[in-house]
Amino acid sequence: MPEPAITVLDGYLALSRAAADVAAGILAAIPRARVVVATGRTPMGLYRELAARASRGVLDASGITVYQLDEYVGIPTDDWRSLLGWAVRSFVEPLGIPLGSVIPVPADGDPAACAAYDREVERSGGYDLAILGIGTNGHVGFNEPPSDASAPTRRVALSSASRRSNAAYWGGTPHVPREAVTIGIAGLLRSRTILLVASGKSKRGIVRRAVLGPVTPEVPASCLQAAPDLRVLVDRAAWDGSVPT
Ligand code: PGA
Repeated sequence: MPEPAITVLDGYLALSRAAADVAAGILAAIPRARVVVATGRTPMGLYRELAARASRGVLDASGITVYQLDEYVGIPTDDWRSLLGWAVRSFVEPLGIPLGSVIPVPADGDPAACAAYDREVERSGGYDLAILGIGTNGHVGFNEPPSDASAPTRRVALSSASRRSNAAYWGGTPHVPREAVTIGIAGLLRSRTILLVASGKSKRGIVRRAVLGPVTPEVPASCLQAAPDLRVLVDRAAWDGSVPT
């Protein structure tokens, strides 16, 4: 298995800038890149940094295709909790990407639509870049434990840990839907590069298990160790101890 590249940054701003350097390098090299875009709090600094670079004219992401990572089931795109809406506000619009270049996940989780989605990604050669956070329970996207490397794009029940952590976005657990659709781990492993970002002490422990621990469905992010190019960027609060060299 290729060794993951782990970079520990001093704080959230440095993490966001370093992650932006990685992403911007890929977008410059592949102007029509297919990019999976996570929501959640962690990548927002990275997206702000990319947007600042785009507005300074040093980054042109207008030719890329954006793939939504995950969505709540039963939440229309105009709902305030729509993860597609969040991705559009934080990434797509600030980077000047046409809305027509955004590929949503099959939001109702219809199994035939999910299978067709995965087939199409496979047919087109996979993604170029996946920007991912990690949940305190080790999920990536909404691949909840247990999920293994063969997990397809599908409808899932959210774990209580995920509902609790998502409550912070929407003002309480009652506002958090019970189900979601997520790109599967198998699809994420078809990304040429995975950029995994983690910040803060709540991620300490799980990120180390994900990156250096045994590959296990109980820590779905650990399955990303099999990715061809896994770049893990963490801040000091999220990483305890040294980094293997
Ligand atoms: P966070 O979410 O970036 O808001 O911590 C990450 C996740 O749950 O995947």
